[in-house]
Amino acid sequence: MRKRLLTGIALAGAMALAVTGCSTDSGGGDGDAGAGGGGGGDVITVGFAQTGSESGWRSANTESMKEAFSEENGFELVFNAADNDPAAQIQAVRSFINQGVDAIVIAPIVEDGWEDVLQEAKDAEIPVILEDRTVTASEDLYETWVGLDFTKEGEMAGQWAAETFTEPTKMVVLEGTTGSAPANDRAEGFDSAIEGTPIEKIDSQTGDFTRDGGKSVMEGFLSKYGADGIDLVYAHNDDMALGAIDAIEAAGAVPGEDIKIVSVDAVRDGMQALADGKINYIVECNPLLGEKAAELVKAVVAGETVEKRTIVEDQAFDQAAAEEALPDRKY
Ligand code: AHR
Repeated sequence: MRKRLLTGIALAGAMALAVTGCSTDSGGGDGDAGAGGGGGGDVITVGFAQTGSESGWRSANTESMKEAFSEENGFELVFNAADNDPAAQIQAVRSFINQGVDAIVIAPIVEDGWEDVLQEAKDAEIPVILEDRTVTASEDLYETWVGLDFTKEGEMAGQWAAETFTEPTKMVVLEGTTGSAPANDRAEGFDSAIEGTPIEKIDSQTGDFTRDGGKSVMEGFLSKYGADGIDLVYAHNDDMALGAIDAIEAAGAVPGEDIKIVSVDAVRDGMQALADGKINYIVECNPLLGEKAAELVKAVVAGETVEKRTIVEDQAFDQAAAEEALPDRKY
């Protein structure tokens, strides 16, 4: 924990948290942005503002981060999951600033609205490292970002669709969280890849990256267009695709046959559905970013210069590739 004078408000807040027993979470406890326990020696105290727990991908990402930011790796982790509420996530970051952590890692729920709190972290001389998602704020306000190329993921999914559908095709889209980098970029990448093809986007709505959201939005599409009126679903993540599968089956149609599905993530449940023929193609989004994020935090805290962007490569899977990959899949 860096030695910094807490403001009166921050001190009062930290004392209140201590009194209520809300303290540092070094491995569990979603939603706890409690006061860091100091550590001492070379221990690096890191506040991690996670989006929430909306998907299988998110669980794997949280696990990877907690593993990497462990005590044995020299960290004290203060973990907060904001339940996909952007205001709550910003509040968690403010709490980290007030606690005087050594570094802050953020997986930003949405791209916009980060200028003020990032400036506050900068003024407090606390380095910010972004993981997974990006922000629209100036690059000067954070040290570095590690994540995936969401636009390329969308392009890869769109390229598969463009090659697969050569006749007029009615497509519906299950979008991720509105305003999030992956929802924005995956839409853009896909749309550019299907430009000039006979694929027509007849509807597009957010399912918030959740299985329940994907299911209820798909139910709405099915009652509006009928199973015969939809040829293809593009889901911005596997969880929404899995929800759509439930809705399609409940409507008496066969997912993967009557209605084809392409999605992004390649988490185990999605890969199993692909192997079972219920999803037709998946582009990976690798959630195992913890090790790289921890390496970057150590370098930044040590005053080293790091690359502004680190992109982790993704691959794509059809049914045969999913069958082959599943036995060794880590998430
Ligand atoms: O930011 C990555 C996205 O967030 C994943 O694709 C999705 O499953 C998660 O909720």
